[in-house]
Amino acid sequence: MIDLHRLAKILRELKPDEVSVLQTIEALVHRFEYVPIEELEKKIDLEADDILFLLGQLNKVRLVKRQKEHYLGYSITQAGYDALVLYDLAIKDVIVSLGQPYGVGKESTVYRALDPKETEVAVKFLRWGRSSFKKVRRLRRLKDDTISSWMNVSKQAAEREFKALRVMHRLGGLVPEPIAINRHVIVMSQMTGDLLLDMIELERPGVILDQILSQVQLAYHKAELVHGDLSEYNIFVEENEQIIIFDWPQWQPITHPNAHWLLKRDITNILTFFKRRFRITYDVDETLEKLTAGTDRKNKNE
Ligand SMILES: Nc1ncnc2c1ncn2[C@@H]1O[C@H](COP(=O)(O)OP(=O)(O)O)[C@@H](O)[C@H]1O
Ligand SMILES: [Mg+2]
Repeated sequence: MIDLHRLAKILRELKPDEVSVLQTIEALVHRFEYVPIEELEKKIDLEADDILFLLGQLNKVRLVKRQKEHYLGYSITQAGYDALVLYDLAIKDVIVSLGQPYGVGKESTVYRALDPKETEVAVKFLRWGRSSFKKVRRLRRLKDDTISSWMNVSKQAAEREFKALRVMHRLGGLVPEPIAINRHVIVMSQMTGDLLLDMIELERPGVILDQILSQVQLAYHKAELVHGDLSEYNIFVEENEQIIIFDWPQWQPITHPNAHWLLKRDITNILTFFKRRFRITYDVDETLEKLTAGTDRKNKNE
């Protein structure tokens, strides 16, 4: 795992020329797995020796990788991408410092951070990563396992999540407020409270359940999307019985062939949880019927 605090320290010591060398490699890695030194010399307005020196420095702190076998070339590492994100977020005044992670998931790590007004915000690094991507590659015999291709997958996931947050937030939905996106990272408002999964007791579980279902309905009818990964793991319960739904990169538009199936799975997850823990029993099909009433999409591809 990448230690972002080590990275933040490295960042403070990075020179502007080192950052621009890193940015140049980033721009070229989708064309070359390892960018030939000659290409870098063409693009960077510095003496060849100076470029080599800067690359040596970046290599030492593992923001780039070097290969010498067939030709001398450089690639950017995952830490290198993270460094560019933190650099941009800092110069754009989105965050001024990075704190500890809230949680490390399978496919992301979410950190606390402070914005310039010292408000705590959440910074989510999506790592739609190597393990699942390798699996995909094995299955489809994809040859492309370069850093640039799996960073693209993570970047797309971040873009998807940010888009859903923006749409839902504009509609007044109970989601974290999206603040900024940079490459594979999104910055959003901090949630307070606890994970629904950890709520052993609720004073009025029915109120919480109805709120969740009304958010599903808002997403479906107004944002025209389904969450796609809804469960007690992706819902917080804040003060005053207010819920908040997060972790949106797997949403699909309601016109997607799998949308109805995903919606049913989302609702089943939630109803199963409330039945098991709080003994509230709603029928899945009836609930689905109620939530989608007024559209003719529900019978598609069932
Ligand atoms: N906006 C936020 N504010 C506070 N904590 C958050 C926020 N977003 C995520 N987290 C924390 O990070 C964990 C993982 O986030 P999540 O978006 O579910 O990613 P994933 O499940 O893909 O790892 C959550 O369970 C929660 O503890
Ligand atoms: Mg999650």
